[in-house]
Amino acid sequence: MSKIKVAIVGVGNCASALLQGLEMYKTVPEKEEIIGLMNYDLGGYKPGDIEVVAAFDIDKRKVGKELKEALFALPNCTKVFFDDLPAYPVTVRMGHILDSIGEHYSAFAESETIFAADQEPCSVKNVLQESGAEILLNYLPVGSEQAARFYAEAALEAGVGFINAMPVFIASDPEWEKKFKQRNLPLIGDDVKGQLGATVIHRTLARLFENRGVRIDRCYQLNFGGNTDFLNMLNQERLSTKKKSKTQSVQAELATPLPEENIHIGPSDYIPWLKDHKICHIQMEGRGFGGIPISLELKLAVEDSPNSGGVTIDAIRCMKLALDRGLGGALVSISAFTMKSPPLQFSDNEALMMVKDYIEGSRKR
Ligand SMILES: NC(=O)c1ccc[n+]([C@@H]2O[C@H](COP(=O)([O-])OP(=O)(O)OC[C@H]3O[C@@H](n4cnc5c(N)ncnc54)[C@H](O)[C@@H]3O)[C@@H](O)[C@H]2O)c1
Repeated sequence: MSKIKVAIVGVGNCASALLQGLEMYKTVPEKEEIIGLMNYDLGGYKPGDIEVVAAFDIDKRKVGKELKEALFALPNCTKVFFDDLPAYPVTVRMGHILDSIGEHYSAFAESETIFAADQEPCSVKNVLQESGAEILLNYLPVGSEQAARFYAEAALEAGVGFINAMPVFIASDPEWEKKFKQRNLPLIGDDVKGQLGATVIHRTLARLFENRGVRIDRCYQLNFGGNTDFLNMLNQERLSTKKKSKTQSVQAELATPLPEENIHIGPSDYIPWLKDHKICHIQMEGRGFGGIPISLELKLAVEDSPNSGGVTIDAIRCMKLALDRGLGGALVSISAFTMKSPPLQFSDNEALMMVKDYIEGSRKR
C-alpha cells in the first residue's frame, strides 16, 4: 500500500504518544498478538504506513528542531514507551500563534508551560504543499479558537484533509463541513475520544442505566492530570468548548438529556506531579425498580496521551480510504466512533458497526 502522508499541528504529548506507537507497532511481528489497537490492518493500511511529512509548533524548545528531538522536548511529559524513533526528515516549522497562549501561563514554571519562540511564522499552506501532505492533524491546545480555524483554512487552501482532534467545532459546524465538501476534501472531528477514556466509559454507563430501566437523576465526571492540557484548562474561558464537547457526548446517550444543573462534566484541576497521568472520577445517581436509589462511583486512571493514539491511527487510516475513494466532506461514521463532538452522534456500538461497513466499502461515509 502507499504511504499516508500526514502533517501535524502541535508537537505536544498526543503527537509524541502517536509517533512512538506508530514506530512500536512496526516492530511487532504480524503473527504476534497485537495489544492496544482496534485494527492492525485497516482497509489494507497498517499503522506503519503512516508517515509524518511536516510538523508545526510555536514553542521555542520545538521550533527549528528535528521532529524526533521536539517530540521529547519540554513541556512534553508523556510516558516514553518506545524511544527508538527514526531520524524523521522533518524540521518543526514555526506556526501561527494567534490565541493559543493562555494569559495564565506566565504564572507557571517554563518547564510546565508552552513558551513561544520568537520567530516569523511559516506559510502553512506552502509547507503543506511542498511536503506532499495529504492530511493535517490538529493537536492545538483547548481554547485555540482562531488558531484552529486558521489551520483548517490552510488545509482547505493546500488541498489536504483535516482531522480535528481538539474541541473547536469544525467538523460539527455545518458551515465548515460545507467548505470541505465543496473542495472535495475529507474532514473528521471534533475532539478525539480516548480508547478507554472518561467519555466513552461515561457514555457506556449512561446507556447501561437507560437500557436497564434505571432513571439517571444526576451525575458528575471530574478529571485531573498534570500535563499542559490540564494546565491550559485551568482557565475557565479556554475550557468552555471542552466542557461542552464532553457534556454533549454523554447527553447524546440519553433518551431525555439531563437538566443542566444535574450534570457536571469537566476538566477539574491541574496536579503537576501527575504529569500525563490522568485521573477521572464518575458519580452516577439514579432510581431503579420501585424507585429505589442506586448510586455508582468509578475511578479511572490512565496515561492520557497514549490513550488517544490508537483511536487517532484509525481516524487517519479511514481518512486515507476517503482520499483513495475520492470522498469529500465530513466522514460521519469514523467521526462518531472516534470523536466526542462528531457532526452526527450515534451510540458507540452503532458507530462501530458503521465504521466496519465504511471500511468494507458498503457504507459511503
Ligand atoms: N487523550 C488526550 O490526550 C486527548 C483527548 C482528547 C482531546 N485532546 C486534545 O488534543 C489537543 C492536544 O493535546 P496534547 O495533550 O498533545 O496537548 P499539548 O499541550 O501537549 O500539545 C499542544 C502542542 O501545540 C503547540 N501549539 C500551541 N499553539 C500552537 C499554534 N498556534 N500552532 C502550532 N502549534 C501550537 C504547543 O506548543 C504544544 O506542543 C488538546 O486540545 C487536547 O485537549 C487530547
